[in-house]
Amino acid sequence: MNVLIHNALIVSGEEAPFAGWLLTDGALIARIGRGEYVGERPRGCEVVDACGAMLLPGAIDCHVHFREPGLTHKATIVSESAAAVAGGVTSYIDMPNCVPTTTTLAAWEDKMQRAEASSAANYGFMLGATSGNLAELQRADYSQVAAVKVFMGSSTGNMLLDEREALRAVFADQPGRVVVHAEDQRIINEVTARLRPTLDVADISAHSRLRPVEACVAATERAMELAAHYGTRLHVAHITTAAETRLFDAADSPAGRQITGEVSPHHLLWCTDDYARLGARIKMNPAVKSAADREALREALRQGRLDIVATDHAPHLLGEKEGDVFHAVSGAPMVQFSLPTMLDMFEPTLTAHRMANCPAELFGIDRRGFLREGYYADLVLVERLAEPHTITDSEVLSLCGWTPMAGYATRHRVVRSWVNGGTGAMALRFRG
Ligand code: DOR
Ligand code: ZN
Repeated sequence: MNVLIHNALIVSGEEAPFAGWLLTDGALIARIGRGEYVGERPRGCEVVDACGAMLLPGAIDCHVHFREPGLTHKATIVSESAAAVAGGVTSYIDMPNCVPTTTTLAAWEDKMQRAEASSAANYGFMLGATSGNLAELQRADYSQVAAVKVFMGSSTGNMLLDEREALRAVFADQPGRVVVHAEDQRIINEVTARLRPTLDVADISAHSRLRPVEACVAATERAMELAAHYGTRLHVAHITTAAETRLFDAADSPAGRQITGEVSPHHLLWCTDDYARLGARIKMNPAVKSAADREALREALRQGRLDIVATDHAPHLLGEKEGDVFHAVSGAPMVQFSLPTMLDMFEPTLTAHRMANCPAELFGIDRRGFLREGYYADLVLVERLAEPHTITDSEVLSLCGWTPMAGYATRHRVVRSWVNGGTGAMALRFRG
């Protein structure tokens, strides 16, 4: 199967966009060229006139919660990977807080088999760290297991690992990359005990006071200390504060970097002012912070202090988001609208770089994330709209059926995505 996409604006993330074309050969990119395509069309080749739309490498979302197995009333690999592909995300890495938790190689293997049978996008899975599964983490093959996930702060799924010694043991002599959810549970517990007596629990914005800046900074600093001490490769997920962004140097690429950082679209889009409008739809962990923090995150991404954008796609039913600040669950589905939203906010080249090139480099993903000849043809065609389109819940493909983006007017629309040139999804492979 060949596809010729011509009349496109090629946005590789590596160089300035140019008018050109791309030809696939089966699962791979065969050739990329500038201007008009003048060569022969392979027999049976599908020809796609991009009509000037942008052709980007498919986004690689290294932080999703697809809920399978065990929480399939919220989401399934089938539903969420379809939402991903519709949104231009052609590869994803899924987190271990499903039921049972992905803390054994057998549970990891089960997820790989489920994805092989049903995923529409390329897939990889992390292993979760507990105080008792060190041997399992050491035994894993990190050309297939994406990374080790550590929840330093409690969140959905009861996977907290905040005992000092257990944490130290995971970082010491760790062959895999360690990905942390960095919130200090002790600080959260102290603040909660202090504020609880006078708290208006019906006010969802209290969530951001209960999970304050200091909890994030303390945990990120602790993880960085451990990584520096043991030489562990560390990736800090969903950074939310200006103070944390200052802990990272600026770099064009995460290749060869020992410590890397991630930011999520919801923290780039919203701040505590938005609770009044969106309520529990933007209740997540870590919580949204001030407008100044949000601005610092945007700037840190432009400067390359933060390496990648990943959604933390965390579907829940709207019914589960009801109740007071202690009962409405945390997390929101974002995978379907992350790419258009990022294109609304940032230059196309920066978007392609931080959503495709850099995730591939950070996790050492084999031959993906770039528009390069010989790489897999994971592609997305995105049109810039003359008139903004207002997103509604009715277009959501995630099983939960809603999006915090409802009511948001976007200037971009995903026209079409190709996963391996349209030949179907594959397991991601990682280079050490
Ligand atoms: O808000 C969140 N929801 N943060 C997390 O860390 C987990 C996620 C979930 O799984 O629902
Ligand atoms: Zn998460």
